[in-house]
Order: sequence, then structure tokens, then C-alpha cells
Amino acid sequence: MVDRPPIRYFDHAATSWPKPPVVTAAMVAALETASGNPGRGAHRLALEAERVIAAARSSLAGLLGVADERDLAFVPGCTYALNLVLKGLLAPGDRVVVSSVEHNAVTRPLAALATGGVNVVTVPADAEGHVDPDDVERAVAAERTAAVVCQHASNVSGVIQPVGDLADIAHEHGALMVVDGAQAAGHLDIDLAALGADAYVVPGHKGLLGPQGIGAVYLSPGCEPHGLVQGGGGRDSAAAAQVSERPDRYEAGTPNVPGIAGLGAAAELPRAEGPAIRAAERRLARRLHEAVAAMPAFRVLGPPVLEERVPVVTVVHATRAPDEIAFELERSAGIAVRAGLHCSPWTHQALGTFETGAVRLSVGWGLTDEDVDVVLESLAALGG
Ligand code: ALA
Repeated sequence: MVDRPPIRYFDHAATSWPKPPVVTAAMVAALETASGNPGRGAHRLALEAERVIAAARSSLAGLLGVADERDLAFVPGCTYALNLVLKGLLAPGDRVVVSSVEHNAVTRPLAALATGGVNVVTVPADAEGHVDPDDVERAVAAERTAAVVCQHASNVSGVIQPVGDLADIAHEHGALMVVDGAQAAGHLDIDLAALGADAYVVPGHKGLLGPQGIGAVYLSPGCEPHGLVQGGGGRDSAAAAQVSERPDRYEAGTPNVPGIAGLGAAAELPRAEGPAIRAAERRLARRLHEAVAAMPAFRVLGPPVLEERVPVVTVVHATRAPDEIAFELERSAGIAVRAGLHCSPWTHQALGTFETGAVRLSVGWGLTDEDVDVVLESLAALGG
């Protein structure tokens, strides 16, 4: 058998690993004791499944500052949620303003909508990946706009976008504000009551440290996308049409009870331990960023090290290809990273790395200074 080095996991922006034991335990407990079908029976396993879901919704609502839990629907993830929101809100002839640094989870549904007659207007970000509210204001003011769409934080540059300001601008011009929170949830304090987003999507499996396959969408009162999926929910079974109440309207079909249980446990974690987890990941990311930026052969994408950002450090090497670097890091020291375009080709266009791609080192729960030391040694060995 080949002797392999232990995994040093720097791919948290793709999905976090390992998961806190409370998350795993909650999922196992849900499979063992809450494996009935919630809302579809009065026996104890069904009731326990309902209780688990209600508790998880309450935990996540508390974490995100959602006043009415019914405004938070469980969905498979951000991609599903963004499809639901964008396709459910925008009709042919509508105009939507979007930043030039969005993930494919935003740009591809918008590309599909554009072929059906939605007018997609792109606002360029600067060369570090910042979206300027003044540029968004000009775009929105130019013509009646149905929605503004922007990420809260970038999975490539780490930039934290001014989404609160963008929400104010959208509302002044009668538009809805849609925020992709994929890289923010768990890494930033999110208070949806204050932020002003009409739709905000979160994944369970990244910074929140929950499992894959589960996430949530917040919809403000009055933001009513038509649902993507219709079906059973256990109530009003005689009605021909989908129920209109939240969150059932957006949760047709048997839910992912173990996933929701894991996400609920994860949502409790940051409230108890969040500040310490976030401080540790930021310190490590900053240390990594500073040290790589000092290596002559590497360039770190995005803003300078002192700007507040989510903990991703994306780099390009003067001569070596990103895939080669990722392969060597894994082979020599078990370091897991993501190379390429990170499902964000628009962002790489903005940062000038569309042709080459880049290597992303994303920091998160469980990493230590020793892991960062090993990464730095390995990058130096590659010709830093
Ligand atoms: N969007 C995820 C990433 O940035 C998958 O890797």
C-alpha cells in the first residue's frame, strides 16, 4: 500500500471538512429516532422528525437574524435556492442588475433566463473584485429594474461586498435585493433583519460546518417567487394546487431530515463558538496571505492583506500551472486545495486570471499553524 501523508484540508470554500462531532451526532440521531416522514403521520417517528425540523429552523433563524421562522425554507443548497429565487421572480421583459464577479450558480440561471427574454445588465467589479455601489446605483437608476443580485463574499478574491448598501439602492429604485451568501454564512455575522435583502441563500456545508445537500433560503415578507417544485407536504392533501403558506410552499416532497438535523446542530455551533472559530480562521488566512504575498513567484488575487475578507487565499505562480501546483501539494504533503476557475469564470475575468485559472487555499475550522507551516514550506519547494 502507498504511504500517503495525512490530509491537510485547505478547501473549505468548496465544502468544509472535517465536520464537528455534534453535527455527525445529530445526523445519526435523526436517522435513528426521527426517521418518520414529517407532517405525514401522527406516530412518534413522524412527530420526532417534525420536531427536529422545527428546532433546526429555529436555530438557523436565530443565527441569521430572521424574525419569522416561516420566512426560512430548507432547500438542497445555494444553487437550488438561487434558481428558485431568480426563476421564480423574473419574467420575460424584466431587467436584472448583477455584478461581474458572480458564481455560476447565479450566472447560469441568469443566462437561461436571458434566452427567455430577461434583460441581464452586468456591473463590472474592479481588478481586486470589489463591487462599487455607485456603479450599481447608476445601472439601477438607468431603467426600471426588477432585482439586483450580488454575492455577499467572493469564493475567489475573498472580497466582502457592500450588500447592505446595495439593498438600500435596490429599494430606493423599487427593485428587490437578492444575495448569494454561499461564502459568507458561518464566516461573517449575518443579521438579515438589518441587512435588507429580500432573498438570501445559505449552504449548510461550507462555513456553517453542516452537511452537504442541505441549505436554506430566506425570503422577506412580500418577496414571493413562484416555487420551482410542486408536490406533497402532508397538509391540504385534497387541494389541487400547491399550498401557499410558508415555508411549505417551497418545501414540497419528503425533506432531508438527517441533513436538516446536521444543519441545525451546526447553526447552534457558531452561536456558542463562532467568534473563536472565526478569529482563528482569519488569523491563519492572514498569516498565509502575508507569507505567500512575500514569495516573489506568487501573486495573491484580490485585495491587500489588511482588508477584511473571508478566509480564502487564491494564488497564481509566475510559471507553474494551477493544476500542477495542486497536484504537487497533495502528492508531497497531503494538502487539499482547489485549482482552476472555481465555478466563477466571471470573477477570473475581472481579476485577469481567466486564461490561467488559479490555486485557491481556503481556510476553516480544524486547521492549525502547523498546517499553514507545511503549506508555506511546500509552496517554497515549488519555487516560491
Ligand atoms: N462554489 C464552491 C467553490 O468555490 C464549490 O469551490
